[in-house]
Amino acid sequence: MDYKTAEEKIKEIISKNKESKVLQSVVDFLYEEFDNYSWVGIYIVKENDLILGPWRGEQATEHVRIPIGKGICGSAAMNGKTEVVPDVNADKRYLSCFVSTKSEIVVPIKKSRRVIGEIDIDSNISNAFDKKDAVFLEKIADILVRYIC
Ligand code: SME
Repeated sequence: MDYKTAEEKIKEIISKNKESKVLQSVVDFLYEEFDNYSWVGIYIVKENDLILGPWRGEQATEHVRIPIGKGICGSAAMNGKTEVVPDVNADKRYLSCFVSTKSEIVVPIKKSRRVIGEIDIDSNISNAFDKKDAVFLEKIADILVRYIC
């Protein structure tokens, strides 16, 4: 599916779901529609940690609470910038969740420049994410801001 269509579908899904189901329904959509997205999760900032919220993938992660500043997730939260990691095993910050993961993208969800959460996607394919994924997921992050609490 192309990114423009996906964005429109996500807006449609959001309009049809109860507020409490929006985050999970968007996670499910991303997981189901993009073959490269092997694990999709949303972390929510609580004090100095990222707490795992809705997720979808074959396995649960042990990293359900990540201190801000730790791992790729914690770096994105600390810097407020999207992290695209083409080879997780070459990145010293990487906190390993699944042996199958080869690449990762983490996109902060920001409310007036403050990071309140993030979208984290692992791929079983190396170098699975590019600028187009980043731009697309940053738009989705902007849409999700009002559903993070
Ligand atoms: N790999 C992440 C941890 C979260 S799991 O990918 C679900 C990191 O380095 O922060």
